[in-house]
Amino acid sequence: MSALLFVNAEQVVTCAGAGRGRRGVEMADAGVRSGVGVAVTSGAIAAVDSVAELRGRFPDAREIDCGRGVLTPGLVDSHTHGVFGRPRADEQEMRAAGLDYMEIARRGGGIHASVRDLRATDEERLFALTLVRLRRLASYGTTTVEVKSGYGLTLDDELKALRVIARAARELPLRLVPTFLGAHEIPLEHRESAASRRAYVELIVNEMIPAVAAARLATFADVFCETGVYTVEESRTILDAARGSGLGLKLHADELTSSGGAELAASIRATSADHLAAVSDAGIAALAAGSTVATLLPGTMLFLGKPKQAPARRFIEAGVPVALATDFNPGTSPTQNLALILTLGVSQLRLSVSEAVVAATVNGAAALGLAGEIGQIAPGYSADLALFDIRDVRELPYWYGDNRCVATFVRGKPCYTSNLGVS
Ligand code: NIG
Ligand code: FE
Repeated sequence: MSALLFVNAEQVVTCAGAGRGRRGVEMADAGVRSGVGVAVTSGAIAAVDSVAELRGRFPDAREIDCGRGVLTPGLVDSHTHGVFGRPRADEQEMRAAGLDYMEIARRGGGIHASVRDLRATDEERLFALTLVRLRRLASYGTTTVEVKSGYGLTLDDELKALRVIARAARELPLRLVPTFLGAHEIPLEHRESAASRRAYVELIVNEMIPAVAAARLATFADVFCETGVYTVEESRTILDAARGSGLGLKLHADELTSSGGAELAASIRATSADHLAAVSDAGIAALAAGSTVATLLPGTMLFLGKPKQAPARRFIEAGVPVALATDFNPGTSPTQNLALILTLGVSQLRLSVSEAVVAATVNGAAALGLAGEIGQIAPGYSADLALFDIRDVRELPYWYGDNRCVATFVRGKPCYTSNLGVS
């Protein structure tokens, strides 16, 4: 395969540096460079240098004109619930009328509504819906997406969702990372008694996790650790079993109430602890002492109409690597637009633009255990790239809700191309 040269970029945002989660002041430098091009050979970044230099070194290269746009590492969306049936627009109005998210769940709506729906949706239909949604997500500049199951909550329905993710990974040029989230809720049929609840946890541990691991349908396991959902003890039991089966660990931690989720994530060395809007001081300290990435999801709090956001500045000051993701799901964050989440990162979480970009590239990769392969434009890294129709990286979170992505590449091959052209 001949080399590719990306030329005529106004800026190349390299995020170059260590292949691990960036902490503290490391997040302040996104490696923005002007007057350089990027050479790609065999799907990997070969060099970042002046275009004249690159033309000398790669005389036969095919050139891609970046049209004075901004080239970044492909965005990494490290937290989505992308496999579901119908949207839950009805709940948005219920919340506006004063019903809380958890109250809607107690009445059998929320996650339970999506569970009923997914169980009744056949695999072909679910696959078709998922493909369209992931293509839309890719159109905003994302090249790697973590996708969770979690609306099946029976062995067969969880496997159905995970098979849909595996099939989508074969069909789409995107990089997909599957996560098993059989512990997304206690299914209604297991909520009648303590014994029945225990039986569901046992089903996850003894049947679901071994089946998912044996079929190699997930890289990670996750649990919704929250007051009224899974306790810290249940979460630990499930994630210990997941680790025993070779799965990586993630945790929905301290999303709505402070229940010791961050402390649990740190103590089991989870790859990421996600949400954290209600994290305690002890939780921040526990994460700072380890290497778990804090994945913040500001779209969720915004969409739920909650006044609180995760204390991003305190995480950064404490030295916790921070990632940003969409939490794309039908209940609390129906957006596929990761650039919009960068906007919220800056305006709601008070991140600098560099911090927000690092959070959605290198640190998103670290939240998936992939920081040695993707997330930066540096020699040896995969050529996963996004080109935006802007002249300055600060415009990425600036044009909020807009889509400025012109094209993306995964392993040097086109992944998404806009038909809008450049301005
Ligand atoms: O991350 N918190 C748990 N899971 C999702 C919401 C899922 C839903 O409401 O369908 C979240 O916010
Ligand atoms: Fe989530």
